[in-house]
Amino acid sequence: MCGIVGYIGKRNIFEVLISGLKRLEYRGYDSAGIAILSDDVFILKRAGKVSKLENELQNFAPIVNSTSFSLSVGIAHTRWATHGEPSDINAHPLTDCTGKFAVVHNGIIENYQILKKKLESLGHIFKSQTDTEVISHLIEEFYKNTKDFITSVQLALNHIEGTYGLGIVCAHEPEKIIVARKGSPIIIGLGDGEYIAASDPSAIVALTRNVIYLEHGEIGIISPDGVEVRKIHSDEKLDLDSRIHELALSLDEIEKGGFPHFMLKEIFEQPESLLNSMRGRINEKGEVKLGGIADFMDKILNSRRFIITACGTSWHAGLVGKYMLEQYAEIPVDVEYASEFRYRNPVIFPDDVVWLISQSGETADTLAALRLAKAKGATVLGIVNVVGSTIARESHAGVYIHAGPEIGVASTKAFTSQLVVLSLITLLLGREKGKISPELASEIARELISIPEKVKKILELNDHIKALAEKYKDHHNFLYLGRGFNYPVALEGALKLKEISYIHAEGYPAAEMKHGPIALIDENMPVVFIAVKDGVYEKVLSNMEEVKARKGKIISIVTELDDKVAKLSDHTIQIPQTFDMLMPILSVIPLQLLAYHIAVMRGCDVDQPRNLAKSVTVE
Ligand code: AGP
Ligand code: GLU
Repeated sequence: MCGIVGYIGKRNIFEVLISGLKRLEYRGYDSAGIAILSDDVFILKRAGKVSKLENELQNFAPIVNSTSFSLSVGIAHTRWATHGEPSDINAHPLTDCTGKFAVVHNGIIENYQILKKKLESLGHIFKSQTDTEVISHLIEEFYKNTKDFITSVQLALNHIEGTYGLGIVCAHEPEKIIVARKGSPIIIGLGDGEYIAASDPSAIVALTRNVIYLEHGEIGIISPDGVEVRKIHSDEKLDLDSRIHELALSLDEIEKGGFPHFMLKEIFEQPESLLNSMRGRINEKGEVKLGGIADFMDKILNSRRFIITACGTSWHAGLVGKYMLEQYAEIPVDVEYASEFRYRNPVIFPDDVVWLISQSGETADTLAALRLAKAKGATVLGIVNVVGSTIARESHAGVYIHAGPEIGVASTKAFTSQLVVLSLITLLLGREKGKISPELASEIARELISIPEKVKKILELNDHIKALAEKYKDHHNFLYLGRGFNYPVALEGALKLKEISYIHAEGYPAAEMKHGPIALIDENMPVVFIAVKDGVYEKVLSNMEEVKARKGKIISIVTELDDKVAKLSDHTIQIPQTFDMLMPILSVIPLQLLAYHIAVMRGCDVDQPRNLAKSVTVE
């Protein structure tokens, strides 16, 4: 999820690592650190910005200045916390008991609790709350017998489940950096007698354009003699001649991963971010593990009701959550705009459970709602993306969505990850309350696990949706209509269009049209219908007839191979079928892309739309 830099060569190691970290700042992070090989492993790490770390280095001038650059070896990291809040202690690099091994890590170690318990039973003392630290102690443990850095790393990685991009250094063999990849990218830059490894080419391109991309399941051993790549569990050196590429992208393009905007990059990241939201939390049987709320299950299961409070897109996610929880866990749920909730002196009972949904974890209205509910004795639980954010810290407990940094102001991957977490909570509580049978739980789980692949299929429709955007980019008003689970998606689709293209758009329950809004329908009013196969499908068809009869232009989001809707539509976007309460995760994707392309065609600043901020920390 965040940034790794490693360097071997003759340049000033502090300058190389700090400038490399600065190249990675755009990715969003909460802390940073470096490890330099000199007589031993010198480590400096801080919560906060890279500039804070850089300033701190001034206090170590004797070390910095004394470090001879005959051969510089070091690694560095910008952290996007997933386990353990942002702090100096939890910042990377993380070391073992002896301080001889230092590790920087991007990703999530799924089995870290088990490994941590085992290592503690062997006498290892952990300093941080991170999942990552188990890697350092594992290597230390194996090194006791192997006395070999590479072998110890390979043996350690044999025990790791989850995702990683790694950089590792060792005081016993100070002229090496080992990198490894399982999920999170690692790229090795080949300079003239110098090498730089990083999680993102933007940290490399200033030094060299010749790179090797580490493949999934490979380790790289970097030394002054060159670069060697192996499979993680093999000693065979892989041929690299055919794997040297030249970076062709500009720095700006690199930062966006080759996408023109962060928003599009984040829309296309959803298969991966959705996987990360589920990682280690669900199995095929539908058994759900949400450690973050485990201690509050009694309060949750015995609560009088749930109140979900949020703002904007997060409020739309909360509305989907209401439909999920009421239908499949039979828990009464009120959904409240935080900005209204906090001022209307709401009735809150001590046996209420209040869920705060927030990507940033800093939204002022949502934070105020949290504090109000807490003051009235309710249990307050967060569903947050940014680890260690204020809402996360002030909640009694919660569930992180693990969507990774969301840079674009318009929320996309955070929304779908919020829906994944809400479906996991629904599944967990539905099973606990006996409202979901083991068979149904397994069906929902299988569908949920298949969602990332289905999202990939929808993303393949990007060009089709772009062509549609071309046809409708000059309209001044849009209506978005949906029912049931997809009514909140209609609201979300309208918000996406409004906030980045500045076109007026309204989301409505489809059946509500005849109570007034249908007066708006004419041939100049594009109407986006979410008309997927679910319990209210036939009703939506009737609503489409009503619009068609008044010459409304209809764009429909439909389930694949549906021909009924097509006959009523001017355009259709076909998406895969899934379980009804999971359909919003799929039906929102085309609406994200439609809004994005219309906004780009209208010359809008998609990543930073006028008047908006990524996190509304003011009231
Ligand atoms: C959504 O695209 C907007 N950026 C906005 O509505 C956002 O969802 C809202 O401000 C809430 O932000 P939060 O999730 O960080 O609390
Ligand atoms: N899971 C690790 C942590 O929370 C790494 C997070 C990241 O990718 O930055 O420290």
